[in-house]
Amino acid sequence: MSPSERDLDESPSRTTASYEGAAQHYLSPQRRDPVKVSSEEPISRRIIARALSWLDLPDDGPVRVLDVGSGTADGFALLTAPGADGVVVLPESRCRYVGLDVDPEMVATAAAHTTSPRAEFVLGDVRDELPGGAFDLYLSCGVPYSHLTADELADALASVLGSITARRRRAVVVVDVLGRYSVEWQPRWHLERWDYAMSFFAGGEHIEEPMTFHDRPSLDRVVDRAAAATGARITRRAHTDRSVLVGRHTATGTFHPEVPRFRSLVNALVRDPDGVRAEQLRFTPALEGAPAEVLAHLAGFAERWNATLKPFTGRALSERDAGRLADGLLARERAAADAGLGVGHSFTATLLVEP
Ligand SMILES: C[S@@+](CC[C@H](N)C(=O)[O-])C[C@H]1O[C@@H](n2cnc3c(N)ncnc32)[C@H](O)[C@@H]1O
Repeated sequence: MSPSERDLDESPSRTTASYEGAAQHYLSPQRRDPVKVSSEEPISRRIIARALSWLDLPDDGPVRVLDVGSGTADGFALLTAPGADGVVVLPESRCRYVGLDVDPEMVATAAAHTTSPRAEFVLGDVRDELPGGAFDLYLSCGVPYSHLTADELADALASVLGSITARRRRAVVVVDVLGRYSVEWQPRWHLERWDYAMSFFAGGEHIEEPMTFHDRPSLDRVVDRAAAATGARITRRAHTDRSVLVGRHTATGTFHPEVPRFRSLVNALVRDPDGVRAEQLRFTPALEGAPAEVLAHLAGFAERWNATLKPFTGRALSERDAGRLADGLLARERAAADAGLGVGHSFTATLLVEP
């Protein structure tokens, strides 16, 4: 078995993220490619807007946010910067944001680049005591919880849910992890935890980290364990898939060399469509290797995705057609998000928690 195929779930040691040299990658403008701007960020904003709507807070009061694994503060931008449609999820004047991250470089970089007096950054591990104060939203984005084993995630969520029950105040929790059944890593669907290559380099070295991948039942089990341990009541729950075919590792092919380069192709349709043909984007779904519900969902998604390609096949694409095709494909991605099965690059559970 190769090192990257080891099932590391039994590892007894406490795992910590190693993001040395990564902060600059997260800040680089190239990272905000058309897929991120037109599909990933709108889906993330939708998750956050729904979470806040569940709290039914007054329209003008402050909203306290703890962003777990805040990195270079993407969460603050998702909350307070206008989306592609010009809509702001939470006006900066109402946002009281604390970013928590275990990596000192991330904390220092986020603090240096975020000038808002509404944002502060704290060094710490989510499994330890959380920053003081009652938060309305315990946010996460960019899959920070996937660094943890299932047992560690149960401890981390117990720490979050425990702080909600201790303060006797309802809150909403967004748990963002890697999706178990993304086509990006189809050959590894049988593994729950494996060495995952980050999409950046530090000092010229390729970073590999053990990460845990979730589908809906596995994430629900961990959430239920944390709720049972703390006495917290979860009164609403929603699940979201993000990037079914356009996850970043369909651009690299690192874990599934045969996968069409969907993300690169969709980005090329927007930026430089010369030579791109709709046929290259055809998706053939897996027939085995995942639960029946997942396979059925992917088959349905393939039908809709391939139907979107059909009018554009058999010919060279004009710039206008390429733009229309990219819009159609990214609309398919946005529409598929609510299935919430763990079939995208990232998979999110949103929880309304009552003390
Ligand atoms: C992929 S980055 C995402 C950063 C940011 N949220 C975003 O969306 O770009 C994951 C972040 O989680 C942090 N992290 C990982 N494990 C953590 C833990 N146990 N406690 C706090 N932060 C953690 C890492 O240091 C890293 O900055």
